[in-house]
Amino acid sequence: MHTKQFTVRDIKIDEDQIIDAANLLTKGELVAFPTETVYGLGADASNELAVAGIFKAKGRPQDNPLIVHVASKAQCMELVKTVPEYVDVLMEKFSPGPITFVLPHKGDLARNVTAGLSTVGIRIPDHPLALALIEKSGCSIAAPSANTSGKPSPTQAWHVTDDLDGKIAGIVDGGATGIGVESTVVDCTGEKPVILRPGGVTQEMIETALGFQLDQTKEMPEVDKPKSPGMKYRHYAPELPLWLVESDVESLQQLIDQEQLKGKRVAVLAQNKSANNLRASAVLNLGEQPEEIAARLYDALRRYTKTDADLLICEAFPKEGIGEAIMNRLSKAADEYIILGQN
Ligand code: TXA
Ligand code: MG
Repeated sequence: MHTKQFTVRDIKIDEDQIIDAANLLTKGELVAFPTETVYGLGADASNELAVAGIFKAKGRPQDNPLIVHVASKAQCMELVKTVPEYVDVLMEKFSPGPITFVLPHKGDLARNVTAGLSTVGIRIPDHPLALALIEKSGCSIAAPSANTSGKPSPTQAWHVTDDLDGKIAGIVDGGATGIGVESTVVDCTGEKPVILRPGGVTQEMIETALGFQLDQTKEMPEVDKPKSPGMKYRHYAPELPLWLVESDVESLQQLIDQEQLKGKRVAVLAQNKSANNLRASAVLNLGEQPEEIAARLYDALRRYTKTDADLLICEAFPKEGIGEAIMNRLSKAADEYIILGQN
């Protein structure tokens, strides 16, 4: 299959490109598109065959449900049963935006979108191209991240091409996505919302909006316990061994030196102040603020597969704000979680 590339820099100028991409979706084809978080791999959410194509192209396990993307609250309400009051508050405050609401659906979606569950994950993306694609196609769009299952999510069009070129009908290239980690997934089936996956909308933001505390996140980050290699299923993962290291700069440098002495070429991902003080085969500065780190992380995890490094070491980051989501993803991507020295 030839994957058609739609390069859209300005939606007003490139309306024809969006219409062509939307027509592909309507015909049951797969089209990747940018959102404010990561690129999604879209299909018409009412078309079971099209949705089956997503699982095939990504190599995604069939029991992992997809997020449905809609353009408005009204479009969301067409698909779900009545929603708790707190969802109204959260939608008002954070949608369009990086938050996915898990709600009981009415049964109108293709069965494989929800992996047979009675609930659907639904969100309004805050990206003009995603919204235009939904509107022009007239579809609700089922879309997981547009990567091969297990690899880092794509934050630029070339990441999608790397994984899926020739397997999908089109890619809408809107440049780099802004946030860089996936949306916050919130279970909204109970009395209180429960965060299933941390993301761009943080627990603190949700608690402030609602005026009450949330219970424990259901899917706890795995970083609290160091794990032995091979003990966990890897996600968001580069093709090299990745060690996540919580350490002061001196101990981190000692670890790098020790591995390089064994003949390994070590690439390091670190935040600005550590990056400036580390020596390795390659050092990638992810920036200062958690928002910068989130925006650059997946690109960095892909770029290092293209160097001659044979070990990637990533510094652990503070779990504040979007740092929670960063550490959640890194802990799943890493083969090892190592704690060194005294911070
Ligand atoms: O930012 C994002 O959320 C991106 C963009 C493309 O929208 N999408 C994304 O999709 O990250 P995906 O498929 O990579 O992750 C969807 C997550 C999975 O962890 C899935 O298990 C969960 O949402 N999910 C979807 N529907 C669910 C449901 N009904 N109940 C519980 N979890 C659900
Ligand atoms: Mg994904």
